[in-house]
Formats: sequence, C-alpha cells, structure tokens
Amino acid sequence: MQRENFGNRFGVLVAMAGSAIGLGNLWRFPYMVGEYGGAAFIFVYIICFFLLCLPILIAEITIGRRSQTNAFRVFHKLAPGSRWNLVGILMVATPIIVVSYYSVIGGWSVEYFVKACSLDFSPGAGPEAGFGDIFGSFISSVWAPVLYHTFYLLVTAAVVAVGVKSGIERFGKIMMPLLFVIMIVIAVRSATLPGAGDGLEWLFRPDFSKIDASVCAAALGQGFFSLSVGFGIMLTYGSYISKKENIAVSSAYTAVSDLVFALIASCAIMPAVFVFGLDPSEGPGLVFETLPFIFSNMPLGGLVSILFFLALIVAALTSSISLFEVGVAYLMEEKHVSRKKACVIIFVLTWALGVLCSLSFGPLSDLKLFGNTLFDFFDKLSANYLMPSGAFLIVLFVGWRMKKSDVREEFTNRETLSGNARIFPVVYFLIKYMAPVAIVVIFLTNLL
Ligand code: ALA
Repeated sequence: MQRENFGNRFGVLVAMAGSAIGLGNLWRFPYMVGEYGGAAFIFVYIICFFLLCLPILIAEITIGRRSQTNAFRVFHKLAPGSRWNLVGILMVATPIIVVSYYSVIGGWSVEYFVKACSLDFSPGAGPEAGFGDIFGSFISSVWAPVLYHTFYLLVTAAVVAVGVKSGIERFGKIMMPLLFVIMIVIAVRSATLPGAGDGLEWLFRPDFSKIDASVCAAALGQGFFSLSVGFGIMLTYGSYISKKENIAVSSAYTAVSDLVFALIASCAIMPAVFVFGLDPSEGPGLVFETLPFIFSNMPLGGLVSILFFLALIVAALTSSISLFEVGVAYLMEEKHVSRKKACVIIFVLTWALGVLCSLSFGPLSDLKLFGNTLFDFFDKLSANYLMPSGAFLIVLFVGWRMKKSDVREEFTNRETLSGNARIFPVVYFLIKYMAPVAIVVIFLTNLL
C-alpha cells in the first residue's frame, strides 16, 4: 500500500502543532496552573518541557520517520524479533483510550459553543442557578452529552477518512491560524480588564517554595499530554514526514508553539479570574463554569464567549484527529482494511468507550475502577501511567537499543544538516541519560 506523506514544511508544522495544541493547552493547562500554584508550576513546566518533553518528541519523530510505518510496527521493524514489539500495543492502545474521553470533552465544547451563540453568556444573561449548576446538570444528564460526543467524534472520523494530506493537513492549515488569532483577541481582552495585573503577576512571578515532587510530576504529565508524546501520535506523524524535512526544526517549532498557546490560554483566563475574585484552583470545571461567569460580566463578553468556545473546538479537533489517526494507520497497515473502514471500526470502539465515560458523570457515577469513575480512571491511567511509560520506553529504545549512528543519520538527514550535527551530542545525551532518569525519579518520588 502506498503511504501518504505530509506535503511541505508548513503542512508538517500545522499537523504536528495541531496535534499538540488542544484541550491540553486551553482546558487542562490553565486549571493545572491554577491547582499547582501559578508561576511556580509554569517555571517547572518550562524546564521539563524543553529538557525532557522536547527531546522525547525528537526521539519519537526520529523513529517514526526512520521506520516509515504505523505506531504498532515501529519497534518490530527497527528491532525485529525482539520483545520491543510489545511496546507497539501500548502505542496504539493509549490514543484509543485518550480519544474516547477526549471526545466527551470535545462534545461539551460544542454544547458550550451552541450556548454561547444563543447568547447564554452575554452580559446580564447569567442564570439564577449559577453556571456551576448548569454545567453539573448538563454533564450528568444522559442524552445531550452523548449526542454531542457522537457529533464531535463523527467530525473527527470524517476528517481522518479523507486522508493525511487532503484531510488532516488541509484542516490544520485553515484552523491553526484561525485559532491563533482568536486566542490573541481573547488574551488581549482579558489582560486589559481593569485590575488584570494581579492575575498576570500570579502567572509570571514564581514562589519557589511551592515546588515539590507533586508539582514536578504534574508538570511532566502535562508536558506529555500537551506535546502529544509517549502515546504513538508523533511516531505515526513522524512516519508521514519526508526524508528531506529537518526533524529538529519541526520539533522545536511544534514545542514552542505549543508552549506559547498554553501561556496565551493562561493569559486569556487567569487575569479575568483575578479581576472577578474567583478561585484559580477551580479544577477541570474552570473553562465550563468559571469562564461563562466571567464572560457574562465582561464588556463584549457574549462575543468573546463565542470566539473562545469556537477556539476550544478547533484546538480539540486537530488533536483528536491525530489521536484517531494512530488506530486507523494501524488497521490499514496491519489488518489491510481501507481507510474508510478503519475509520468506522475506530469510531465504533471509541464511541462506545466515550459513551461509558460520559455516563460516568451521571447514571454510571457509582461504577468505580480503583476508586475512580470511568472518566477519571481513563484520564489518570493515560496521563499518569501510560504516557510516562510510553515516553520512558521510547527514550530507552532510541538511547539504548538503536545504534547511535542510526539515530544520528536520521537526525542529521545523513549528515547533510550541519546545524543538527552540531547539536546532536546534546540532544542524544538528553534522550539517552537525562530523560529516562528524570522520568523514573519524578514518577517514583511522586508515587512514594
Ligand atoms: N496534545 C493534545 C492536547 O494538548 C492531546 O490536547
């Protein structure tokens, strides 16, 4: 079967950045910043991000492109006959689990976009019951969240069904610039509210005494989630990158844009949280409970709310597309089914898991796995265990199983990129020693 490739450098960049920038930046990052103490978390996050997550991204793209195959077969192809091929199962299973619950939140974003368009968050439109109750009763109901999840997942599947270049790449090229413009508009609006300075200071002046093992573990987990590393996506996207592209440049652009978006999202949300005297550690409800309150009290809030929830959908879609693609590429290449049929199979599987996750906020809330509802269980399982394990195994593979000369050859495009050749020793050191040790230390310290 002829494999598709991304078209050009811009196409590679929007696809990779589109995968990275998602709910992780707009929904998860701001509430993690809120829960883990503002600037101290951001400080640790930036260090983990560049010293650990970026090298892991480079490692993934390197082996993805070298193997030119799906996330399941990568290890099999580069280390034939070894136990490493078992890692392929993890690489395909994790994104399938993630996209199932990701799509539930994607569905909530669609519902909130509809509400915003109905001017539910315009100044003076605040409901008597409060936005927290509205959100609570929406997610605990049976039909509406399931229908929105279904709609959202159908759109994801439809884009993936069209293919790598005409679907994924083209969608990203239109949507990513749009997302950027919307987020800048909202951040400027929020940061210029009277009294926004306190929020900005809280975001950017770290209190180092707040840093402990749990902050480091949370920052690392967030970095993996946000940059889409440790779970097969970048292996798959790496395999669609042509041999002429510069892996270091594409990875660095992706990482910087991902970080910039996370910071812009925080600047869009936190100053307003402070202006209105709200609690920054609201948790996962921050975007759906706190923000509507802010919008309904802010000049031009109705318009800003429409833009925000549109941005949330766009960002989420470009990421769920990449999550969905991993399973599709696996089925196409390993089970020899057509792209469309593969999309149908992954849709049915992730839809069913997603329905269970959605219902775990309502009728299935008493069903617990290890003390967690299904939604929390899938989220914790993937972000706290599967992604770190995946990332750990990838750096072990690239640093200790592959020949250094092979890694170097791929990273430098056969020594044709002199800049890459110069930085290779540093990147290799980070992949081989720094990343595995840091992942284990942070993981164990947090566990104990
Ligand atoms: N990297 C994706 C996100 O941040 C999964 O949402």
